[in-house]
Amino acid sequence: MTISRDTNDPAAQAAAWQASAKKHMWLHFTRMSTFADSDMPMIVRGSGPYVFDQHGKRYLDGLSGLFVSQIGHGRTEVAEAGARQGSELAYFPLWSYAHPRAIELAERLADLAPGDLNRVFFTTSGSEAVESAWKLAKQYFKAIGEPARYKVLSRDIAYHGTTMGALAITGLAGLKQPFEPLPPGGVRVPNTNFYRAPEFMAHDLTAFGRWAADEIERAILREGPESVAAVVLEPLQNSGGCFPPPPGYFERVRQICDRYGVLLVSDEVICAFGRLGYYFGCERYGYQPDIITFAKGVTSGYAPLGGMMVSDALMEPFSKGSATFLHGVTFAGHPVSCAIALANLDVFEKEDLLGNVRARQDAFRATLEKLSDLPIVGDVRGDGYFYGIEMVKDKATRETFTDEESERLLRGYMSHALFDAGLVCRADDRGDPVIQLSPPLICTQEHFDEMEQILRSVLTEAWSRL
Ligand SMILES: Cc1ncc(COP(=O)(O)O)c(C=O)c1O
Repeated sequence: MTISRDTNDPAAQAAAWQASAKKHMWLHFTRMSTFADSDMPMIVRGSGPYVFDQHGKRYLDGLSGLFVSQIGHGRTEVAEAGARQGSELAYFPLWSYAHPRAIELAERLADLAPGDLNRVFFTTSGSEAVESAWKLAKQYFKAIGEPARYKVLSRDIAYHGTTMGALAITGLAGLKQPFEPLPPGGVRVPNTNFYRAPEFMAHDLTAFGRWAADEIERAILREGPESVAAVVLEPLQNSGGCFPPPPGYFERVRQICDRYGVLLVSDEVICAFGRLGYYFGCERYGYQPDIITFAKGVTSGYAPLGGMMVSDALMEPFSKGSATFLHGVTFAGHPVSCAIALANLDVFEKEDLLGNVRARQDAFRATLEKLSDLPIVGDVRGDGYFYGIEMVKDKATRETFTDEESERLLRGYMSHALFDAGLVCRADDRGDPVIQLSPPLICTQEHFDEMEQILRSVLTEAWSRL
């Protein structure tokens, strides 16, 4: 059956979409059984920081879709840049060929990236970017005569993607277990969750950061430095609820990587393109990675694109004789996506979006911190336009919820209640229960207030249901 697009009868059309979606759609990371007796949430259009469902109801997009829509929705000039490119050259591969928009975008990214990162290997997604970084590290070390280096260190609860390699780097046991055995070499180190720091350093953030960094050194020594290829870290860890790096953490990690000849990969799939007030998150925290992986915000979601940036030094073994990086994907650096990324970066410049984040980030923090008066709010943490709110059962002891309470509270009540109240955000219990916020970079105080008010009413109700 084909769904008719009957604009004269929106209710009939919405019902037809629902019926068809229930028959044919398979949503990602979603319990499909929940749609046996409830509708599939559906978004049909967007404008600025808002999106609208099929009934015309408005929602504040407090998560930028999925940490993606930096410039907000409905930007005709960005969409049109894609349409123009589609008419000129819709597709050509980056296998053996280049095309103008990929060249222009690579140069622009090289100008924006810190230090000597001036070479771009495009992908279509963040998982592919992380996968590419690991493959590059492995082949690079084989090429320079250190073939035993293949392991990758990453942090507990960190999410780095779903393809098999990226999943082996991901630190969420529950996501990995159904797909084991995964490629060997993923090694876990502690994250920088200061709210849950071990007791002996729970009152000294700097000492905690030093300990967490030193755990990376201990892991390298335990595994054998000759077997470790890379350390993969987000500037500010998303999963678990926004763990910023303590002061001095990355400086020490950089020293450790240099000491043992290990590559430092900054996974900036979320943190790049203004999320923390800089084009790249590593700039905010003052460290120089060997590889940056990016995706999401590079196009603000007007088309899919990802990639990794490396230095000439990393590429050197591949730039002579018959040497080739034996890796690629058909749609990497798609011309339409590259044209859109260029138009997206034009918006960043024209509207000084980095300036907007830097000017308003303290107000965003202060507005969210107002929620700390609620008994259920244990911690508010993050930087830039990227925050996590951890919920607890007991503020004084920081006791968290049981699995059953978490299930009832987060999945059973809050996810739906927040959406029903007009806020797109994420109630996540992959670590301790948190609400994640990552609004478009165009947001101002009125949007911060709207988020705070909706969160206040839903969190208050959640507490009364405990
Ligand atoms: C830090 C990080 N790395 C990698 C990925 C995977 O990106 P994608 O979903 O585009 O494959 C994500 C996705 O959220 C991410 O947050």
